Amino acid sequence: MAQRKTKSIFSCSNCGYQSPKWMGKCPDCQQWNSFIEETVTTGRTTTGRMATEPAAQVQRLQEISSSTEKRQQCGISELDRVLGGGIVPGSFTLIGGDPGIGKSTLLLQAVAQLGQKKKALYVTAEESCLQVKLRAERLNVEPQQLYLLAETALESILDKVRNLSPDFLVIDSIQTIFTAQIESAPGSVSQVRECAGQLMRLAKQTGLPTFIVGHVTKDGSIAGPRVLEHMVDTVLYFEGDPGHPYRILRAVKNRFGSTNEIGVFEMSDIGLREVKNPSEIFLAERAEDSPGSVVITSLEGSRPILVELQALVSSAPYGTARRTAMGIDHNRISLLVAVLEKKVGMSLLSHDIFVNVAGGVKIDEPAADLGILAALASSHLNKTVPRRTVVFGEVGLAGEIRAISQPELRIVEAARLGFDRCILPASNSKNIEAPASIKLLPVRTAQEALELLFDGG
Ligand code: TYD
Ligand code: MG
Repeated sequence: MAQRKTKSIFSCSNCGYQSPKWMGKCPDCQQWNSFIEETVTTGRTTTGRMATEPAAQVQRLQEISSSTEKRQQCGISELDRVLGGGIVPGSFTLIGGDPGIGKSTLLLQAVAQLGQKKKALYVTAEESCLQVKLRAERLNVEPQQLYLLAETALESILDKVRNLSPDFLVIDSIQTIFTAQIESAPGSVSQVRECAGQLMRLAKQTGLPTFIVGHVTKDGSIAGPRVLEHMVDTVLYFEGDPGHPYRILRAVKNRFGSTNEIGVFEMSDIGLREVKNPSEIFLAERAEDSPGSVVITSLEGSRPILVELQALVSSAPYGTARRTAMGIDHNRISLLVAVLEKKVGMSLLSHDIFVNVAGGVKIDEPAADLGILAALASSHLNKTVPRRTVVFGEVGLAGEIRAISQPELRIVEAARLGFDRCILPASNSKNIEAPASIKLLPVRTAQEALELLFDGG
């Protein structure tokens, strides 16, 4: 074994970037004040293979049997879908999210379902076994084969896992466990990476599906889940506005499925409930017949979801007008405001503009452009968008309306919820089989769309 040496290194606690000297701003993720000093031991690589492990062999692709890729459904269909259709053997999944958003609740509900038939081990490194038991009672679950372990030392966790050999493993959370091989404190970049690395190797060797929880941290002294994104198979983020009961589970990386899928949940007093019909819920509190409100169909993975966009345009009392957006990219709003100025002739420069997606949803597809444009115009003109009209399309810089993906899916969902008019890009309207209850109104330019919406077209 090579001689062990210790040296110190500075790591960015947000993204894991490492540097031999301290820096005020991370050159990788641009975060300020995120560098912390850590001691690392060099010489023997702790992430290297153990001496007892055999070296890997070269294999021919054809000879590798794929029959082991049997997915196991956990019974929470929103979670299964986001995972790509169930849990893959040996998969290593990171669930990130703000503290208190419901990560522990979601995983406890998942392993409780799995624990009905198979052995599941839930390692609780933050709460005591009693706390988890009380939570399980509240969730009204009593799985036969769910085992709890309140432990923070990685070596001991690995030992227990090998003895119990569970079918599923949950580590809650990765930031609170530590390995004795590294001197830095639990939660530091090197601890988090090393612990995750060792758990990952166990998962791959034994085919044990593993879920780890990672809190998104604001405090620079604890490493966030981003430092692990590159090594794990699947990264899910649990998002939501603490003021709203809705939570969205989003895949940002998935080696076993699409990254576009989302799962929608509602936090209730008996835990997370699946929301199977998100459109109805997102539209439930819609301010109908009020200027600035527009319904769009956004495609989240394979699922069309109807959401309400709200815009408020009011004259700015002071020199610089404000642009505030929630759930939508800022730059998109600026671009659409510029299109309204130049191509439609609306003067918005001296106005404060607020745009919001109702229900705390985030939208990042270009198909929402025409909806945002319509909401802005509606608020500015103080004219309502007809209440049973749905809008989608991408807006180009010349004010042209461009085609978007999967128009049929969107139209069918809108018709299902009782919408009877749909404004869509002209190039999308050919060869479409739409339900008879909905009238398609193809448009080529932003100007045309606004005339249809507000001039009684
Ligand atoms: P938790 O799963 O502990 O969050 P995380 O692990 O992401 O930090 O969720 C905590 C929040 O969820 C807490 O504010 C209480 C709320 N909650 C409910 O509203 N109902 C419930 O049945 C449970 C278990 C939690
Ligand atoms: Mg928790």
